[in-house]
Amino acid sequence: MTVLSCPLSSLLLTVALVLADPTSSCADTSSLITLFRAYSGNASDHFYTTNVSELDNDALLGGTYTFEGEATFLWSTSQPSTIPLFRLYNQDFVDHFYTMSSDEVLEMIDQGWAYDNTPNHTAGYVYPYSICGAAPIYRLFNPESVDHFYTMNIAESQDAMKDGYQDQGIAGFAMLPSVDGSAVKDSAGPFFLPSTMTALPESQETATSSSACADNANVVPLLRAYARNGTGQDHFYTTNSSEMNAALLTTYSFEGDAAFVWSTQEASTVPLYRLFNQNVNDHFYTIDANESNEALSSGPRVQVPPDTS
Ligand SMILES: *[C@@H]1O[C@H](CO)[C@@H](O)[C@H](O)[C@H]1NC(C)=O
Ligand SMILES: *[C@@H]1O[C@H](CO)[C@@H](O)[C@H](O)[C@H]1NC(C)=O
Ligand SMILES: *[C@@H]1O[C@H](CO)[C@@H](O)[C@H](O)[C@H]1NC(C)=O
Ligand SMILES: *[C@@H]1O[C@H](CO)[C@@H](O)[C@H](O)[C@H]1NC(C)=O
Ligand SMILES: *[C@@H]1O[C@H](CO)[C@@H](O)[C@H](O)[C@H]1NC(C)=O
Ligand SMILES: *[C@@H]1O[C@H](CO)[C@@H](O)[C@H](O)[C@H]1NC(C)=O
Repeated sequence: MTVLSCPLSSLLLTVALVLADPTSSCADTSSLITLFRAYSGNASDHFYTTNVSELDNDALLGGTYTFEGEATFLWSTSQPSTIPLFRLYNQDFVDHFYTMSSDEVLEMIDQGWAYDNTPNHTAGYVYPYSICGAAPIYRLFNPESVDHFYTMNIAESQDAMKDGYQDQGIAGFAMLPSVDGSAVKDSAGPFFLPSTMTALPESQETATSSSACADNANVVPLLRAYARNGTGQDHFYTTNSSEMNAALLTTYSFEGDAAFVWSTQEASTVPLYRLFNQNVNDHFYTIDANESNEALSSGPRVQVPPDTS
């Protein structure tokens, strides 16, 4: 096993320290997408993708990788002031590698990494320096297990360094998934909210404009999965990534973020009740306490088709 030297970390820092033009225009925050993170202990591989179907089919299916939440928010297409974050893969070491340096791409290809099957060889687009509120994605490397690891959480990066990982500088700048930069699982609150997204008019309840608002810094992603086979055809939603991982080991496939919600009651919010009918394998969600009680007393409110497989 080749132990890789990392002569390029200084180069990466140089790239990162290039002074930003103060008049740089910013990328469109309404088109930010989630870069999901998954980990395989068996293969010692951290894997990051914006493609939910790839995440589900190539990583989570069968429990090969464990879902680890949202690593960052970035763009899937080129935006003002952004550059590509290239993605490579080394089959022998089972290592996903990400860099914004096209010179380093060529060096890594010399060392056995190859372009991965992603659009334009990219995982997404990031800022090359700290502009427009973007924060650093720290890059680390473990030469023993040959694993490249990326995190926006400085504390997590320091822990990794105690655990055999080397600091390799900054992989790019993107939007934080939580106040401290940690991957958003079940307890962290995303710092960034896609506030420019608007719901369809018909989905908006009338409310007084003076209603107090809940704290956007406390939202957590409501993760969505769908039963993989015909049984029950169940949509399942949870904010708990451990529970999601458990569901993915059964017949559910991961379908991404359904919404951002609060895990504790905040100003102007109401509980979203969750019920489950074991007989027909159906999860049911409602904000109506009466409906929730009715469903509890009268059995399944929603009749789902029986197993046809
Ligand atoms: C997403 O992943 C699926 C499954 O791996 C693949 O078929 C599809 O082409 C990918 N989409 C993009 C935009 O890369
Ligand atoms: C990890 O590797 C062991 C031994 O190869 C295998 O039995 C096990 O199924 C693997 N676990 C996962 C989650 O892939
Ligand atoms: C790929 O690159 C081409 C040429 O730069 C660009 O037009 C296209 O939008 C890119 N596609 C993606 C998915 O980034
Ligand atoms: C479909 O789901 C049911 C219930 O979880 C399970 O018993 C069955 O084995 C699954 N069938 C297939 C083909 O995965
Ligand atoms: C999250 O899910 C796991 C596994 O199902 C469970 O043990 C844990 O209690 C759950 N945590 C919360 C906060 O509900
Ligand atoms: C719930 O039921 C009570 C008693 O039947 C009724 O007074 C109340 O208006 C109902 N609430 C809703 C939100 O339907």
